[in-house]
Amino acid sequence: MKKNTVTVLGIHDGHNSGAALISDGKVLAAINEERLNNIKNYSGTPALAIKKVFEISKIKPSEVNLVTIASFLRLDDPVKVEGNKLHFLAEYIAPLMHQKWFIKFSVALLHKFRKINEIKKVLGQLGIDQKETRFIEHHLAHAACAYYQKPWNEKTLILTLDGMGDGLSATVNIGSGFNIKRIAETSFYDSLGNNLYSEITAFLGMKRWEHEYKIMGLAPYGKADDVTDILRNVIRINPQNPLEFENISGYYLKKMQIFYQKNLAEQRFDNIAAGTQQLFEQLCLQWVKNAIKETKLHKVVCAGGSFLNVKLNKLIRELDEVEDVLFYPAAEDGGSAVGAAMEGYYGYCQKNNIPAKKVNLSDIYYGQAFTNDQIIEFFKFKRLKKFARKVSPKIIAKLLAQGKILARFSGRDEWGPRALGNRSIMADPRDVQVIRKINFAIKQRDFWMPFAPAVLEEDQKRYFKSSRFAPYMIEAFDTKQDAREIIAGLHPYDLTARPQIVNDWNPEWQTIIREFKKWTGVGGILNTSFNLHGYPLVGSLEQALWTFHRSSLDGLILGDWLIEKK
Ligand SMILES: [Fe+2]
Repeated sequence: MKKNTVTVLGIHDGHNSGAALISDGKVLAAINEERLNNIKNYSGTPALAIKKVFEISKIKPSEVNLVTIASFLRLDDPVKVEGNKLHFLAEYIAPLMHQKWFIKFSVALLHKFRKINEIKKVLGQLGIDQKETRFIEHHLAHAACAYYQKPWNEKTLILTLDGMGDGLSATVNIGSGFNIKRIAETSFYDSLGNNLYSEITAFLGMKRWEHEYKIMGLAPYGKADDVTDILRNVIRINPQNPLEFENISGYYLKKMQIFYQKNLAEQRFDNIAAGTQQLFEQLCLQWVKNAIKETKLHKVVCAGGSFLNVKLNKLIRELDEVEDVLFYPAAEDGGSAVGAAMEGYYGYCQKNNIPAKKVNLSDIYYGQAFTNDQIIEFFKFKRLKKFARKVSPKIIAKLLAQGKILARFSGRDEWGPRALGNRSIMADPRDVQVIRKINFAIKQRDFWMPFAPAVLEEDQKRYFKSSRFAPYMIEAFDTKQDAREIIAGLHPYDLTARPQIVNDWNPEWQTIIREFKKWTGVGGILNTSFNLHGYPLVGSLEQALWTFHRSSLDGLILGDWLIEKK
């Protein structure tokens, strides 16, 4: 490593914990614990991930200048915390005490009791427990990962929006040079994400902080209007401060559930989803417009779990007021390890008078790869060698064109919740029957959930009304008539799609789709994450094989090798 290099380890130990290692502003490795321990959204010390980022990047622990930990308070899965003391306090005290001073005081007080013995133990095993350690506030970590990697240099409006973190649920910030200045914040009690989206998710029998995307997928089927009017009694933009949200119901958590049970009992489930999405969009768009008006900044970056809502992101992108926008692909708390490390890096440089470097966001294959030698060893160990055959992208494409559904486990893991080709299930997007097969026989998904396509950059204009480069599956697009060719990758009701636009960031993935195009004339394939329902994206060879055997996948590609079902 060069002499003046600054290397920062970022750790997030809350909901979907993980670790990241960055050097001079560039992410060298980042991985979530769930990929290593196979527990979806694992909350707790990411012991495996911390060690893994050193292994992946080949950086020695002694080269680390600073350790950063995301969030002053560790936030667990809300389902797990139900019934504990903090939950009780939040439910009964929050409606009375949600003023900013009380939140700041409580967070500062509770921070003193934050336990990091387990993190210290892992750092001790690596010999770096005595390194300088800094906590990065939750929303600052969200803001940092989006802002510092934006593809422009001008002053920028930074928006964060989530369920909650460190007592807050939304912030408005101005980014200038290597500084982030906060100008507005919304308390956790006034959370748009929690009170509206996550509580409705729970009300409809699904899991808070995990299944919100199912409400978004269901929304286009319903009629929003009546429900939206009811939900307006819960939350609005604060008339005193247009950069904040305000909970006007007087309820929180369990009492909010009672409110929904009373007021939405007569409504159809799809209409409830539609109303939720509609109000969410309306309030967010108003909030974004207000922030642009206030700051006069038209270039925007966004992070925080609420910005996984691809339909909202589409509308923000389409606002006349927005000149350019970046949605950080690991927008949810799982991305916080990178955010903490980013903020730590620029703070460290400033403090030590080291010129900081800016690195623009590009591909996000930050995880671990398995070599073909490791894969062959694995086959030998499992006595599978004679069943595996080496395959080229051409053969893979031909099998897809013949209707086979294949999983691909090759190259480095993707960062964030979306599979971008390396931990993906692939299928022919021309055939709508494929939806049924993947939903029921492979992933046990909900029947209404749409799939998404991976489309070649050169075919984007043919299928989509926008030619904006969108490599992360975090924005939805309207489609053109020709997109009927990839019908299984569109939302079946409104025919929008949230594509991965594929360029040479992942040459093998690009080649598979190009070969598929040679066979079929179609410039995209169906791409969905390689996992079973309730499990994280597959993270190991063992898990890949386990998933293959428990599903109706036709074939599994490990590195350059294919195993097929007989
Ligand atoms: Fe968050």
